[in-house]
This record gives sequence, structure tokens and C-alpha cells, in this order.
Amino acid sequence: MRRKSLNKKKELGLLTSTEVSVLVTPEMGNFYGTMHGGELLKRLDNVAYICGVRYCKNQVVTLAVDNVLFKEPVYIGELLTIQACVNYTGKTSMEIGIKVMAENLKTLSMRHTTSCYFTMVAVDDKGGTMLVPELLVNGKVAQRRHENAILRNKNRKKLSH
Ligand SMILES: CC(C)(COP(=O)(O)OP(=O)(O)OC[C@H]1O[C@@H](n2cnc3c(N)ncnc32)[C@H](O)[C@@H]1OP(=O)(O)O)[C@@H](O)C(=O)NCCC(=O)NCCS
Repeated sequence: MRRKSLNKKKELGLLTSTEVSVLVTPEMGNFYGTMHGGELLKRLDNVAYICGVRYCKNQVVTLAVDNVLFKEPVYIGELLTIQACVNYTGKTSMEIGIKVMAENLKTLSMRHTTSCYFTMVAVDDKGGTMLVPELLVNGKVAQRRHENAILRNKNRKKLSH
């Protein structure tokens, strides 16, 4: 995202999405020579954290990660673009959707490799929960993501009991 546009969104307090790029280097590999799933998840957690803090302007912790889909392998030397978006907010929690695109730097071809959902909770210095700003849902895509997130949130709660 361009700095001017990022600054404008910050002014309006509407920073619902974040994008971070990561070059996949050899030490991130597994025994097969592709990217280790745990290495990828750690980076996705970091991006969900950035997205959550930017949105609620508060410290957040990861409560849950689910629907992790390693759709395609990620190769060493590819450039990952990790896209994160706040899909839903409750009182103290947020669902952040993650989509990973891998770019072959030589051919410039892009593939959607991975997706998942993080539930992040805003906390204070003592670990107590904090309120998050209500999400303003604008546009068809955001509406669809929001409706799906509500269903997932209900399922999460049902399955955890
Ligand atoms: C995150 C944490 C602070 C929440 O504390 P808590 O006492 O469970 O707080 P609450 O019961 O008030 O729940 C907080 C939010 O999580 C939601 N929640 C709780 N269980 C949930 C579940 N199974 N699925 C989805 N949401 C859930 C609640 O609905 C609430 O959201 P809302 O306020 O938007 O409705 C606490 O669980 C914690 O510290 N967990 C460890 C976090 C951590 O260490 N993460 C790193 C792991 S590697």
C-alpha cells in the first residue's frame, strides 16, 4: 500500500487491512526443500498481530487459528505476499482473514498457496480483555467476508464446548 493512502486510512481510523512481503530463504525449508508449515504459520501470526494492533490501536494476543489450508507448497526463493483483513469484530475479539500469494521472482507468476483465520483478542498490560472498535462493513466483498466470519465464529464457539 502506498504511504499516502496508508496515512489517509490511519487518519480516518479505518485500517482494516495489512499486507506484508517475505522472501522465502533456505533456512525456512523442510526436509522436502519447500517451506516448513510452522515457519509459515509463525509469519502469518505476526501479520495477523500487525493487522489487529493497527485496527484496534491496542495490544492483541492470538486466541485461535483455524481453517488452515496449505493449498499449494511454497518454494524457497519465492516472494510471499501475506494479506490480512479484519473480517469481523465482537466486543473484545476480531477475526482476521489471511491469504498468502507466492510469486516466482523469475517468471513473475503468482499462486494462492495458503489461507486461514486468526481470532485475536485485545488485551491490556495485565492480560485483561479490552474493547475493540466496531467494524464498519463497506462494500460487497467486506459484507460477504463479514457474514461468513459470523458463521465461523458461531461454529468455533459451538465446537469448543
Ligand atoms: C485471549 C484471552 C486473553 C481471552 O481471555 P478470556 O478470559 O477467555 O476472555 P473472554 O472469555 O472474555 O473471551 C474473549 C473473547 O474471545 C472470544 N472467545 C472465547 N472463546 C472463543 C472461542 N472458542 N472461539 C471464538 N471466540 C472465543 C469471546 O467471545 C470474547 O470475544 P468477544 O468479547 O468479542 O465476544 C486468554 O484466553 C489468553 O490469554 N489466552 C492466551 C493467549 C496467548 O498466549 N496467545 C499466544 C498463543 S501461542
